[in-house]
Amino acid sequence: MKILVTGNGGREHALAWKFAQSPSVEIVYLAPGNAGSGLDAGLENVAIDVMDFEGQIEFALENEIDLTMIGPEAPLVAGVVDQFQAAGLVCFGPSMAAAQLEGSKIFTKDFLQKYSIPTAKYGSFDSPEAALSYLKTIALPIVLKADGLAAGKGVVIAQTLEEAETTVREMMQENSFGSAGQRVVIEEFLAGEEASFIVIADGKVAIPFATSQDHKAIYDGDKGPNTGGMGAYSPAPVVTDEIHAKVMEQVIEPTLAGMAEEGHPYVGFLYAGLMIDEDDNVNVIEFNCRFGDPETQPIMMRLKDNLADLCLSAIGGTLEGQSLNFEENTAIAVVMASEGYPGDYKTGFEISGIEHADQLGKVFHAGTKTVDGKLVTAGGRVLGVTAMGASVSEAQSAAYKMIDQIHFDGATYRHDIGYRAIEREISVVDT
Ligand code: AMP
Ligand code: GLY
Repeated sequence: MKILVTGNGGREHALAWKFAQSPSVEIVYLAPGNAGSGLDAGLENVAIDVMDFEGQIEFALENEIDLTMIGPEAPLVAGVVDQFQAAGLVCFGPSMAAAQLEGSKIFTKDFLQKYSIPTAKYGSFDSPEAALSYLKTIALPIVLKADGLAAGKGVVIAQTLEEAETTVREMMQENSFGSAGQRVVIEEFLAGEEASFIVIADGKVAIPFATSQDHKAIYDGDKGPNTGGMGAYSPAPVVTDEIHAKVMEQVIEPTLAGMAEEGHPYVGFLYAGLMIDEDDNVNVIEFNCRFGDPETQPIMMRLKDNLADLCLSAIGGTLEGQSLNFEENTAIAVVMASEGYPGDYKTGFEISGIEHADQLGKVFHAGTKTVDGKLVTAGGRVLGVTAMGASVSEAQSAAYKMIDQIHFDGATYRHDIGYRAIEREISVVDT
């Protein structure tokens, strides 16, 4: 089987790496991929942009690709899967209509409300006057969200009414989020612990992957601005068996049934970002129509099943009765980023030591490229350094041993990935 994966991040490197482990997979092409995916056995980069659907379709037809997997959200929201299917190609991911679950926060909030799926109370607005008067009716802190895709930067948590008002003006009148911010959702703040709950869906049935937890803030202790994600681990013990069952029953199953009822059956990966409160209540913060980055890296390290067969089964509508198998061990991915990220940063610094780190786990690449035979930094998030261990602490220390082997100028990373799970391990030992 020949596979094409589109995207160039750590997520796509990890998905392609997992595909390549299947004996039935001959080759995995990445469009455009990164330096890491260009080096791995069984993977090959092709220089086609992630939004160049025509180029991708031409490549897939010419090379008789059996399965295309779309990595990031932007092409899914723009309808790439519909275009592949119209060309008679097998493409894994939600249709344009189904991808609205990530593409429009207003669509999603209205959908959640209609199907009684738990989420924060909200209002949605396309006029700044109405938005400003709604602010006076809800408690602080206030969460403001640009409706459309904003590369993970479309959410502001305002601590004061003044800050919330300024944000509304910036989003809606000064277009600081471009067209994504012309319509906004304003919602109640939810307290608790976040978890990532990712499933594969065939339009009717969803099978959960192992649970995971991301670390969105740039600095240790969840301080500083939000990023795309600075590290993740799997499984996430905050999702107990009881909470797992509740999420399937209250969130995943009604979402699949509701999307089918709306005429947009959901086929693809579906990622529910959840908030779990002290009383184990679960609320949906957001949906993503793709796998998480960096959640993919630890989850793919643990997945024992054949990913290609699984995707084909979802496309064929035959997931019912299946379940997935994962290594018992915990996996942790720590992201090494360029100094300055998520703001401005410099690129082009030489990276060394990956071959030593790879002895202890797997280094997935994100913002890397090869220039004159040298591996250099080429993005904000550069590497996802991923290790396994019998406990979260063991996986964590293995990942940081790997990081000790790697060097590039300006490398920054969090030192506490997995800390919430480790606090739980310590409290279990104490009692
Ligand atoms: P999103 O872009 O929707 O993933 O939101 C980014 C981050 O903002 C989430 O991961 C949460 O940490 C936070 N967030 C979003 N909505 C809420 C909410 N209603 N209450 C508390 N935190 C939120
Ligand atoms: N790690 C968060 C995301 O993929 O959206």
